[in-house]
This record gives sequence, C-alpha cells and structure tokens, in this order.
Amino acid sequence: MAVKLNEKYLKTFIRAHEMQGMEGVVALAHKQLNEKTGLGSDFLGWLDLPENYDRDEFARIKKAAEKITADSEVLIVIGIGGSYLGARAAIEALRSPLYNSLKKQTPEIYFAGNSISPTYLNELISIVDGRSFSVNVISKSGTTTEPALAFRVFRDLLEKKYGEQGAKDRIYATTDAKRGTLKKLADRQGYKTFVIADDVGGRFSVLSAVGLLPIACAGCDIDALMKGAADAVSEYANPDLTQNPCYRYAALRNIFYRKGRKAEMLVAYENSFAMMNEWYKQLYGESEGKDKKGLLPVSAIFSTDLHSLGQYIQDGSEILFETVIDIQTPQKDFFLEEEAENSDGLNFLANRNMSEVNRKAFEGTVLAHVQGGVPNIVLEIPALNEYELGYLIYFFEKACAISGYILGVNPFDQPGVESYKKNMFALLGKAGYEADRAELEKLLNE
Ligand code: PA5
Repeated sequence: MAVKLNEKYLKTFIRAHEMQGMEGVVALAHKQLNEKTGLGSDFLGWLDLPENYDRDEFARIKKAAEKITADSEVLIVIGIGGSYLGARAAIEALRSPLYNSLKKQTPEIYFAGNSISPTYLNELISIVDGRSFSVNVISKSGTTTEPALAFRVFRDLLEKKYGEQGAKDRIYATTDAKRGTLKKLADRQGYKTFVIADDVGGRFSVLSAVGLLPIACAGCDIDALMKGAADAVSEYANPDLTQNPCYRYAALRNIFYRKGRKAEMLVAYENSFAMMNEWYKQLYGESEGKDKKGLLPVSAIFSTDLHSLGQYIQDGSEILFETVIDIQTPQKDFFLEEEAENSDGLNFLANRNMSEVNRKAFEGTVLAHVQGGVPNIVLEIPALNEYELGYLIYFFEKACAISGYILGVNPFDQPGVESYKKNMFALLGKAGYEADRAELEKLLNE
C-alpha cells in the first residue's frame, strides 16, 4: 500500500454513519466505472492503462529518450493542459523544480505552447540559440491553438538550423492515432509519432506517451512509474468502501462538499510538489467543475504559503478542507550543525535533520488548522520516487472518476473550455466565426 489515507484528523468533522451513508453511491460509481455504463464511458482507457499499455511503443519511447539525450542539449516539450501538466509535474517531483539548472547527464527540458505569452516564447527561443535541441510536440486533437503556434515557431527554428531533413529527425509528435492536423503533418513529413489513444482524455494521459517520453528524457525510470500505477490498479479495484482508500477519499470529498466546504486545498511540504498541485487542479477542476457543481481545487506549498494563505486557512471563511500530502522521507536531507556562539538563537534546531523540522511544521500546522475548524485529510506517501508517484497518480485519477460519478457529472468531458476559444477566434477574425465578432466587439466597447 503506497498511499495511506490517514483519517485521524477528521474525527471531529465526520461521524461514522456519514461514511456508511456513502456505501451505496460509491458502489454504484464503482459498478458504472467497471461496467462502462456511466457518463463519458468512451473515455475509460486510462483505467487499465498501467497494465495494458502498448509494450512496443513503450520500448520506442525509451529509444527516443536515449536518442534525444545523446543528440540534444535541450528538449522543448510543446503542449497545454493534459498534454503538458503531467509530464512537467512528474519531472519536477522526481528530479527537481530546479532540474534545468542542476548538473545532469540528461537534456534541459522546457515547456512551450502552454500560454500565448510572446515574452515567454522569446525567452525560450533565446535558450535554444546556439544549442542542439529536439522538439516533442504533444496534442491529441492536433488543433489546439497554443501548441500549434509554438510548434510552427520551433519547427521553423529546427529547419533553419538542421535543414528540412535534419529537423524531421528531431521532431517527435505525440498525437491521435488517425485524425487531426498534427497527425496529418507528422505522416506527411515522416516525424516519429507516438499515440494518444482515443479513449484516454488529455488530463488522464500522463501514463501514456504524453507523459512518458518527456519523463524518460529527464532520466526517470518509467518502468517503475508504470509498476507503481499497475499496483494501484490492483489495490483500488476493491469495491469495498471500508477497504479502499481511494474510494474513501472520493467519499470524504463529497461529504465535505455537501457540508458546504466548496474548496479542496491540496497541500504539500516539498517545493518539488508544486507542479503536481497544478496537475491535480486540472484533473479535478476540468472533471468536476460543471453543471454549476464541483469542488474548487486549490493548492499550497507549506511552509511557504503559510506566510501568505495561512491566515485565511486558519481564520477565514469556512469554505475549505485540506488534503495534505505527507511525503515521509525527503529525497535529500540536510543536517543542521550546532554553532558555538548561537548568535542567531537557532541552536534549538541543531543536531537534527531539516526533515525533522519540516515534520514538526507539518504536525503543528495540521493541529492548528484542525483546532481552527478546518478538516484535514492526510495522504501518506513513503517517498517521492517513480514507483510511489505512479501509484499516487493513479490514486488521484481513479478517485477523480469516482468523485465525478458520485457528484452526477461526466468527469471525462470539458464543454466549458470551448467558450473562450470561440470568442478568441471570433475576435481574431478566424473564418467561420464572423457572426459572433460584431456582437463581442460591441460588448468590449460598451
Ligand atoms: O484534459 C484535456 O482534455 C485538455 O486539458 C487537453 O489536454 C488540452 O486542451 C489540450 O488538448 P490537445 O491535446 O488536444 O491539444
């Protein structure tokens, strides 16, 4: 059991019968997921992906990562949303948020196409200037504006530097198996391609080529990542709510939601978890936030954010509960020496590891927040390595699907994301959007 659900700080917030009361709805959600009879059941390919993935493609991913490592100082990974967050989150969690600046045998990895900021794009262009680089462009639809725009720029840079033929050898396209502009372009140009299966939605795709190629390029062990996720598949197949921590977590979220706690704050005490927080926010925000329902997923890194959000959490509106990721062993520790003069008065911390200080911060904060009336769910993880991370990723994915079904929404669509695109295209004068343009301009000029 790699992810342990610790419910001991919930005693004053939830009574036993409330959890028992969830048994029926959770059993129904489990049945709908397993029998593929629930909403969005065309998108359940992620459910057994850690066990039933394409082994040949997996081997090709490893080979591609070796080639990129051998011939590129920099890898530019182009994608947005589910085609971006998981890879970056895993790399930062497993290697470091400072990965690009640390000494290593693997290429620097930068993410492009996840915004429309011209400043950021210019900065990335200057980073590859004079250096060998490759591009992994990731888009399931192949038509998303942000990555398509970035790909146009980096493809052009590659062609200018290496020639058309040389560029082809450095472009890796991860996209739909058959459809989409990117797939057509990749086939026409002869790029190496990797597949995002039809039945795996973007935000559930980190354990496919979408996440695996960039993660492998950062030198991470993707076999161990998949093994952790596969073990999670087995553990969380158990329909019994009393035995399945993943289902209990989903049930707890729903109980708090119905008690008026409309936001869940995911908290960790390691900086390297910050992008995992972002991945979680997309997974739950896009899956549950619909039909005017859903918990708002927010996040924090402590103790950093105790100095910004701490006051609100302790004393502000009673709208949230916390889910705390308790990583029990840090990747690296630091021994605090005693100082003879004790001029800074810090000798009370001396002769112990910094992780012990971080743990006391965690314990003190949980107790303070619980006393302040904020429920704290704790998820204990032995360490942040590939195996545990794969396990945790699958824990969140499955809990998300169960949460969505309990809530009565389709966790696998994202109709709301289209609204901004429609307006942006109309305002930019894209063909087919003429009718909306005049009305939007009128509204802007009112
Ligand atoms: O989770 C999702 O489906 C979305 O966040 C998509 O991943 C995102 O919009 C990018 O889409 P695409 O991969 O088609 O470019």
